[in-house]
Amino acid sequence: MAFARLSVLVSLVLGAAQIANAALTKRVTCADGSVTANEACCVLFPIVKDMQATLFDGAECGEEAHSALRLTFHDAIGFSIHGGKGGGADGSILVFNATELQFHANGGIDDITAGQFPVFQRSGLTPGDFVHLAGAVGTANCPGAPRLQFMFGRPPPVAPAPDLTVPEPTDSVTAILARFADAGFTPPEVVALLSSHTIAAADVVDVTIPGTPFDSTVGTFDTQVFLEVLLKGRLFPGNGSQPGEVLSPLAGEMRLQSDFVISQDARTACLWQSMVNDQTRMTTQFKAAMAKLQVLGQDTSKMVDCSDVVPVPAPFAGPIKFPATFSQKDVQQACPQQRFPAISTVAGPAPTIAPVPGS
Ligand code: HEM
Ligand SMILES: *[C@@H]1O[C@H](CO)[C@@H](O)[C@H](O)[C@H]1NC(C)=O
Ligand SMILES: *[C@@H]1O[C@H](CO)[C@@H](O)[C@H](O)[C@H]1NC(C)=O
Repeated sequence: MAFARLSVLVSLVLGAAQIANAALTKRVTCADGSVTANEACCVLFPIVKDMQATLFDGAECGEEAHSALRLTFHDAIGFSIHGGKGGGADGSILVFNATELQFHANGGIDDITAGQFPVFQRSGLTPGDFVHLAGAVGTANCPGAPRLQFMFGRPPPVAPAPDLTVPEPTDSVTAILARFADAGFTPPEVVALLSSHTIAAADVVDVTIPGTPFDSTVGTFDTQVFLEVLLKGRLFPGNGSQPGEVLSPLAGEMRLQSDFVISQDARTACLWQSMVNDQTRMTTQFKAAMAKLQVLGQDTSKMVDCSDVVPVPAPFAGPIKFPATFSQKDVQQACPQQRFPAISTVAGPAPTIAPVPGS
């Protein structure tokens, strides 16, 4: 790298937007042939390659990708706009794991921190940059996901976050909204962030059924979770009713109590429902809220925008559908003032949702 020559291509792109801004679009070709807007981002391409090969089993939207996204949240939310609750998106959960992994809300997080640790060590990145780059790359492996922003340049964390910053599925809507507000997030941003549960499964809510998904399309970043959380509950997928879990509509699927109460509460029900079958709304709002989450507590004036090192996700083929045997009559609509979108039903008998492999 020290002797490698970087060929710098500066080109004027005469697109309409660029003319309006009179902007000069700089493009740097890195030693490995990757192209980026900023030379400082070149060091990240080999790290992304390593993550894809060793953490994400060859760019899969699997258990590790899902967990890498969850980790960004559990790291960043250790923060308050009023101070005194941790450094935010600083990677403290990775290097102060002896403290933070003891917190009840971080149950099951040890798998992904242990998996990330050796890759983090050889990356040379700070813990915060590593955790938040891994989250963006893992999410990009899921078809339908937005390409998340990646800002580069977090300093090392100075201390672990304190306990009780991460919301629990047993929490009330009031408690959840209050905790997010304390970290600087509005109710629309909370619902937008919960789009993440479209690529999510539970290992510890019911330990007898690890890898139980929250929707029927856990490998796709679609709006299916917003639909399925609204369907009438019928069963518990594992060992009966566990704390934080409510009746689910499908065998093999878990419904978090927190997702359900947020879908039904007057403060959030219309925000929830408006995500159903609106891929553009979901991805746009999720991307914006994640851009905020992933730099929480950080000084962005000292960071470089390296979003172009994040792989471009495959598109979502769409549209979403009711799981077989379900239809509009099964929807527990909590926002009657908005028309519910017309959605067709998958043919055949009601499915049993398979666990996420490797859980
Ligand atoms: C009200 C706030 C939230 C609550 C109560 C909550 C709760 C949970 C719970 C209980 C699990 C399952 C853990 C297990 O049993 O293994 C889970 C999984 C997950 N959560 Fe959340 N969550 C919340 C918000 C978020 C946010 C904001 C994100 C990301 C932006 C996120 C991303 C995920 C992901 C990706 C998983 C799946 C991890 C995997 O499959 O390995 N969650 N969440
Ligand atoms: C915790 O951090 C140590 C280094 O301090 C690392 O060796 C270990 O793998 C980490 N464990 C987990 C579960 O994250
Ligand atoms: C099943 O759930 C019951 C009640 O919650 C609990 O006492 C029991 O230990 C659980 N069994 C297993 C195998 O986890």
